[in-house]
Amino acid sequence: MTANQSNKTMLEIRNLKRDYELPGGMLKKGRTIHAVKGVSFKLEAGKTLAIVGESGCGKSTLARMLTFIDEPTSGELLIDGKTVDTRPGHLTAEMRQKVQIVFQNPYGSLNPRQKIGDVLCEPLLINTKMSSAERRERATEMLVKVGLGPEHYNRYPHMFSGGQRQRIAIARALMLNPKLLVLDEPVSALDLSVQAQVLNLLADLQDEFGLTYVFISHDLSVVKYIADEVMVMYFGEAVEYGTREEVFSDPKHEYTRTLFAATPQADIESIRKRMAAKAAAREQRA
Ligand SMILES: Nc1ncnc2c1ncn2[C@@H]1O[C@H](COP(=O)(O)OP(=O)(O)OP(=O)(O)O)[C@@H](O)[C@H]1O
Ligand SMILES: [Mg+2]
Repeated sequence: MTANQSNKTMLEIRNLKRDYELPGGMLKKGRTIHAVKGVSFKLEAGKTLAIVGESGCGKSTLARMLTFIDEPTSGELLIDGKTVDTRPGHLTAEMRQKVQIVFQNPYGSLNPRQKIGDVLCEPLLINTKMSSAERRERATEMLVKVGLGPEHYNRYPHMFSGGQRQRIAIARALMLNPKLLVLDEPVSALDLSVQAQVLNLLADLQDEFGLTYVFISHDLSVVKYIADEVMVMYFGEAVEYGTREEVFSDPKHEYTRTLFAATPQADIESIRKRMAAKAAAREQRA
């Protein structure tokens, strides 16, 4: 993180809520699911907030609201100091460009008949006036940034491994130079060794582009090594929120303690070393 970015708030949410109305049937009454019940936080530019919690607690719903896929029922969303008008049709191109999402399973969002080059160029085609040669150049550059190569430009999604596909999804998310990346379980479907590689890549990209991350995971061993701040969600509420050190060393909420106790220790020695080295390098630069 560079000095001029420090203390600048990239993302702020105030009492964000999302209800889903489930229609009733002949014999059943309709009901409302309170998926996110009023969550607030502030995240500084260049930092990573990890969101943890068990299945169904509202993590993806929150991710969809942060990336404008889902409209909040109420509450405020501020990106880079500006309040976002989340009503359909009111979102500005600037906002759309600033925030991108990476999902757990990129295969689902990659068209099997679309070449990787076209996958990467698509956001440029829709949102910029770049020529086809310029688009191609930028896509090739981005392939290299995420650890792939120009030779992959004309290949199809099925020709890649899971880890490589996740690299492609990350490259695609970065094509428009976003500021904020929301990553919804980005490494959960990958083998441990590949997880470490993708996490290292994300750390490098964060440094290089000054990116802010909201990183959703159910794996505390991953969270422990990527997060600056941690939020624990439970039934749609943030029951814990603080720096990584605060939350890990002194979990306040009973649910967090249970969650910590139930998490198996995965082997992430390589991530640990890498993160320590990066932190040391950052400190030296500061
Ligand atoms: N489009 C929708 N319509 C109705 N209910 C929904 C919808 N999306 C999510 N929900 C409900 O909202 C709650 C939160 O779901 P969400 O997907 O945000 O959880 P999650 O924390 O991401 O879970 P997981 O760890 O399994 O991905 C769940 O009860 C879910 O069934
Ligand atoms: Mg989810």
